[in-house]
Amino acid sequence: MWFFTSPKIVFGSGAVEFLASLPTKKAMIVCDRFLAERGTHQVIVEQLAKAGAKVEVFGQVEPEPHIATVEAGVKLARSFEPDMIVGLGGGSAMDMAKAIYALYERPDLTIYDITPIVELNLHQKARLIQVPTTSGTGSETTWATIITEGEGGRKLELAHRDLVADWAVLDPMFPSSMPPKLTADTGADALAHSIESISSEWANPFSDAMGVKAVDTIFRYLPKAVKGDHVPPEVREELHLAAAMAGLSFGNAQVGVGHALGHALGSVFKVPHGRTVGLFLPYHIEYNFSAAREKLGRLAPVLGDSTVRNGRDLAGKVRALWDQIGMAKTIPECAKITEKEFEEKLPLLVERADSSTCVVSNPRIPSSQELERIFRAAWSGAPIDF
Ligand SMILES: [Fe+2]
Repeated sequence: MWFFTSPKIVFGSGAVEFLASLPTKKAMIVCDRFLAERGTHQVIVEQLAKAGAKVEVFGQVEPEPHIATVEAGVKLARSFEPDMIVGLGGGSAMDMAKAIYALYERPDLTIYDITPIVELNLHQKARLIQVPTTSGTGSETTWATIITEGEGGRKLELAHRDLVADWAVLDPMFPSSMPPKLTADTGADALAHSIESISSEWANPFSDAMGVKAVDTIFRYLPKAVKGDHVPPEVREELHLAAAMAGLSFGNAQVGVGHALGHALGSVFKVPHGRTVGLFLPYHIEYNFSAAREKLGRLAPVLGDSTVRNGRDLAGKVRALWDQIGMAKTIPECAKITEKEFEEKLPLLVERADSSTCVVSNPRIPSSQELERIFRAAWSGAPIDF
């Protein structure tokens, strides 16, 4: 028995206006400080005002959102008692909205109870709405949230189907002002979600349909969105929808070792998520190809038969895309660290990648030695044969 979980989705130019049609008394907007200072949330506030809603803004979400920020947000939600919580921003803000939402709905629980095996029974007090402002994380369509714990930056990988939003609002107005570097990083994240989920042991016909479509769109449109002075609105819209589709793909099939490696590097050396998982995507393909040849062959209709005949060729296709959009292909391009610092932290990197839940559905379960080999290859960017 399998499930395909998705929020209801409203998309296209003007999609944000849909919020005015939802009966809402009190809405709490969860966004990061940058968006709050820029006034991006005002677009949402205007629509909610049409519905007659009072609005409270929790504009304190930081990158790599921390458990202490969840607690502050839950405190505000419990005193304000919203019947709508809106996550507005990139993955951090939307992940934060999910965590706040769960603990607002269930004050008897702690964050550690957010696991698939606990009966949460959410969606009793409020609607959860996700409005992405970047085109990459896919958090708007998934049931996972990543929250940082403690001083060491350990990531809690929390998930439950009840964390899926009631509505995902995909309005291309929001990502239209993304600078090229952010466009590249977030697009790389979406491509990693698609390809890793297609190769996953949990891949299924529904997740594949979303993943293959997302790969096709990202290869076609990401270079156009990164290069040039003016990005046509239709390019932004295609990528915005592709990121949500990639979210549906990995949200229903899981990512793999590429994300395990990326999370490890990102948490130890403080590198943006998209840059690290982009770096490891070619290695994900090279490591898994022999075990996932048939699954990755589903990319043939969009990438060509010759590309998916072996891992080196498919990984090469991704590396060529990275060249086009200026993505890092080595660890030193990603993180400003010396080789000595890298060697010192290598055991910790391997330990973190090894303990990631991302590897459970990977086509191959990597050994510590294999993870170390990939990290060392990624230092110089050399392709690797497995
Ligand atoms: Fe990701």
